[in-house]
Formats: sequence, structure tokens, C-alpha cells
Amino acid sequence: MDKKHAAIVKHPVVARDLTILRNKDTNTADFRLAMGRIATILAYFALKDLPLKETDITTPVTSAKGYQIDTEILIVPILRAGLSLVDALLNFIPDATVGHLGMYRDEITHKPVDYYSNIPSGLDDAMVLLVDPMLATGGSADDAIAFLKKKGAKNIRFICLICAPEGLQRISTKYPDVSVITASVDEKLNDDAFIVPGLGDAGDRYFGTT
Ligand code: PRP
Repeated sequence: MDKKHAAIVKHPVVARDLTILRNKDTNTADFRLAMGRIATILAYFALKDLPLKETDITTPVTSAKGYQIDTEILIVPILRAGLSLVDALLNFIPDATVGHLGMYRDEITHKPVDYYSNIPSGLDDAMVLLVDPMLATGGSADDAIAFLKKKGAKNIRFICLICAPEGLQRISTKYPDVSVITASVDEKLNDDAFIVPGLGDAGDRYFGTT
């Protein structure tokens, strides 16, 4: 497996919270809280090399140099489950634009089915943060990245909570320019294309629809 383009975020809080998320007995409230904490840590890592530009400010005491983030940022959750990662990014970048891509994975074919998109144009200079907690076969992320590239996106980062090796391989082979920030590369996919050991269906568990 090619891990060259994947940053696997290691942190004690991530290890503890992944355990909470994986546990089938975790209730919806605890699942949401753990997801929110991990999302914050993933967001911190995903944003740690954001470009800055200097700016002049006046403090209550004197004039000083400060910094502004020097890129437009577009956050794109893949609906539904990707919504669980948006707030953590908006906490850091409250003026980011949020686009949406609606797709679900067909239970029989395991292929993504598109049902909605609302992505602004003019993505050439933006940093695009594509977010979805699960990268399984990679079909959804593949379609999403292709769509964003068609819209002009040149700087895409994909933030996901857990990956299957198969999905990570697919994305890093097809899109070597897209970096993947994740908390875990799990063992494999099972015959139903679920990540093993995984955490089940992140969207259903986050939204309480199981
Ligand atoms: C899940 C997950 C990803 C996709 C991953 O979505 O959130 O979008 O499947 O699978 P893939 O890598 O094989 O494409 P799901 O179909 O459960 O939809 P939901 O987010 O609405 O729950």
C-alpha cells in the first residue's frame, strides 16, 4: 500500500476516541462527541501548513505585525456523513465557504450514487478540504475529487476518519496530488465493502438513524 500521500494522525485522544467510535455499544451522544474531538485534531493537522501573509495591526499598546491566512478555503462534505467533520474546520476557519456533494453508496453495487451538488465556481486558487469520515472502496471520494477537479480545483486535501487500504490505494494512485489526512488505515474491506474492523456506518451512527 502506498502511504506516501497519507498522513496518519497519531494522538492519545484520537486513539481513545477511535475506540469509542468503534465500540458498537457507544450511544449517539457519545459517538457525536468523540467524532467532534477527532475532527478537531484532524482539522489541526490538515491546516498546519496553511499559507500566511503578514498584516499590519494596531494593538491597544502599539502597532505590530500580524498574520492572515493567505488562501481561500472551501470545505466540501460528502453528504451525509461528511457533515460530522464540518464544524471542526469552521471553528478554525469561520469565513470558509462550504460546498456540498450528495452521494450515497448503493448497497448492492457498492458504487456511489450522486443526488446533489452545490459547489461554487472559481476553485482554481482555493484550498479545497473534502471531508468524509469513511474511505472504503474509494468510489465516493474518487467521484468527488473528479467533480472538484472538473470545477477547477487544483489544491485538494481529503480528510477522513478511517480508511480501508483498498480505498487509500485507489485515491493515492489515481490522484497523487491529493493528500489524505486520516486517523487510521484499517485492515481491509469485507464482502459487503465495509471497513474492517471499522465502526459500522458513520452516517447512521452520527445521525442516530440506525
Ligand atoms: C458512506 C461514507 C462514504 C462512503 C464510503 O456513505 O460516508 O461516503 O460510504 O464508501 P466508498 O469509499 O466505498 O465509496 P453512505 O453511503 O453510508 O451514505 P451516508 O453518508 O448518507 O450515510
